[in-house]
Amino acid sequence: KRYPTNLLPQEHWDKRVCYIRSNCQQFLNKVHDAEVYDDDVWIVTLPKCGTTWMQELLWLVMNDYDFETAKNTNLEQRSPFMEFDYMIHSDLDRSLKPIEDLKRPRLVKSHLALPLLPSQIWDKKPKVVYVVRSPKDAFVSEYHFFHHMGLVPPQCSLEDYIKGRMYDKDCNEQFDNMYEFYQLRSEPWLFYTSFEQMKLNLRQVILDVCKFLGKSIDDTILERMLKHLSFKEMKKNPRTNHLWEIEEVRKMTKREGGDFNFCRKGETNSYKKELSPEMVQKLDDFVKEKVSNYGITLDDL
Ligand code: A3P
Repeated sequence: KRYPTNLLPQEHWDKRVCYIRSNCQQFLNKVHDAEVYDDDVWIVTLPKCGTTWMQELLWLVMNDYDFETAKNTNLEQRSPFMEFDYMIHSDLDRSLKPIEDLKRPRLVKSHLALPLLPSQIWDKKPKVVYVVRSPKDAFVSEYHFFHHMGLVPPQCSLEDYIKGRMYDKDCNEQFDNMYEFYQLRSEPWLFYTSFEQMKLNLRQVILDVCKFLGKSIDDTILERMLKHLSFKEMKKNPRTNHLWEIEEVRKMTKREGGDFNFCRKGETNSYKKELSPEMVQKLDDFVKEKVSNYGITLDDL
């Protein structure tokens, strides 16, 4: 990478890159060695694919539908995001504290790729949940979220961001990740579903999750779950809106707040409404080609 030495001297860039790389490596080593319990549940998704939605569902099923606690405690406290503290503070010592201190059975959220998760995952075999979402909607959702928190430059438009995503070589990681879990979808320790499936038939997804976790549910609770997990309810639920996390990121990026709700649109194919017809076509072609490299179509995922 070439850095703008007119802004900062070369030695500065070299030193910083070297430090950040080695620090990240140490964090990943720490994650690799982290303790895993066989009664854990790990929700491991790509960002903006319905993680929070599924996380709330899982937490309630795992905790005997304790709506009271869910209403009074932020989701990030009930089910911490493993990388969050490290991302915000780069502090290795405190980086895994929230999951280490969590009462068992733990529900842990991570956006890390499967090969980067603790190695004990493969010995202890905790349950793992994966939610796939069309990358077209995920990219758009990601833009709004990152833009709001100051993680993309203020002048960057949605179309600029999507173009950047398409030409970014790391974009392969998005597709490799999706295909990796797709290949594992029949493993008994993995619950594989999609955002689209949750939109289509949330009732069935809840029943399937209960079966996967070996929990029962009666009709009254099921109706209550459907209401609690509806977009309308989650939109006004401050416990699942990640307000605290968003504030922490904003402090870091020094971005002013504005109108934004974590539960933004909650739709499938909303990219078609938000992008120009030309961009829709470009993104359709791009994703089709990427997915076809694995010998599958987007509908297979
Ligand atoms: P949009 O930005 O497209 O609206 P994650 O939790 O992985 O970051 O995913 C966030 C996305 O899930 C956002 O998508 C958000 O609106 C959507 N979402 C969250 N709760 C939802 C619900 N109950 N119903 C539908 N979509 C929901």
